[in-house]
Amino acid sequence: SRSASFPQTASDHERGDDEYANVDWDNLGFRLTATDYMYIMKCSQDDEFSQGQLSRYGNIELSPSAGVLNYGQGLFEGLKAYRKVNGSGLLVFRPEENARRMQIGADRMCMPAPSVDQFVDAVKQTVLANKRWIPPPGKGSLYVRPLLLGSGPVLGLAPASEYTFLVYAAPVGNYFKEGLEPINLIVEDETFRASPGGTGGVKTITNYAPVLKAQLQAKKKGFTDILFLDSEDKKYLEEASSCNIFILKNGVLSTPSTRGTILAGITRGSIIEIARDLGYQVEERLVSVEELFDAEEVFTTGTAVVVAPVSSITYRGQRYKYNCGGDAVSRRLYKALVAIQIGQVEDKKGWTA
Ligand code: COI
Repeated sequence: SRSASFPQTASDHERGDDEYANVDWDNLGFRLTATDYMYIMKCSQDDEFSQGQLSRYGNIELSPSAGVLNYGQGLFEGLKAYRKVNGSGLLVFRPEENARRMQIGADRMCMPAPSVDQFVDAVKQTVLANKRWIPPPGKGSLYVRPLLLGSGPVLGLAPASEYTFLVYAAPVGNYFKEGLEPINLIVEDETFRASPGGTGGVKTITNYAPVLKAQLQAKKKGFTDILFLDSEDKKYLEEASSCNIFILKNGVLSTPSTRGTILAGITRGSIIEIARDLGYQVEERLVSVEELFDAEEVFTTGTAVVVAPVSSITYRGQRYKYNCGGDAVSRRLYKALVAIQIGQVEDKKGWTA
């Protein structure tokens, strides 16, 4: 059960109860645990965001004709905060990257966006205000969810007259029910996530609900998730429903290039850099579905997912299997990434804030 206020009462403080919220840290999974505070900042169309503030986490009020409700004018982001594994302190992973991605998406969706500084400041304030909900080292992270919403009323199709930038957070563990175990994907070749000229490359809320039907069908058949193909040639890999994909073949890592239909994942970019630093060749290019037939390894990357080794992919009834053992490159990359995220190694790249 969650306690009602932050800061808490003096007696809570004396008992030390304010250090950690009352959460079953060993069974977090990826679901919503409501925390104490959220951050809200508003601005009108043609204006700039200026002053936001923390408020109690709770429902927000929206006009029934809000642009986001009627026409899907909305974006979301996702990033994680950790307690440093050695010593005290908190780390947020690459918040500036999320800020920049939100700005690109906002431009595509005709919305004003917070500046990078405003975004990062809002994230940090939200993390600090909800500090007691950040899992102990090794148990998970605080998932931070910034939203940018067309909150003003519209009736005819047009940009909303007012915008709301909101940041909330929730403690999370592993994304897939498999935990850290390898996942099983199925190639989806009937529905498509994105098309050229569309919004697949930005994090609009409208990219996500259309995925649910195929995802549910796949889950019913026992698969973890689906893997999308491009909508034109129907033969190039794009991404899974919530993460990017990499393959390892003949010692070379390849991942689909971002051609406007694939989300430029921040974990994707980080893994490309880490892999190159470790001496692997990494190619961003068109990756044909046929390359899955004889790949050595496949793995997915994402903020929520981190790095998930793929044990099999099913395509047109045929199941292809991959190395996910202790010697897998995906395991090595996972460890190298997480070591930076939790402050286990020196952050030479300046990725943590
Ligand atoms: C993330 O990985 O942070 C995402 O935004 C994907 C979401 C579907 C959980």
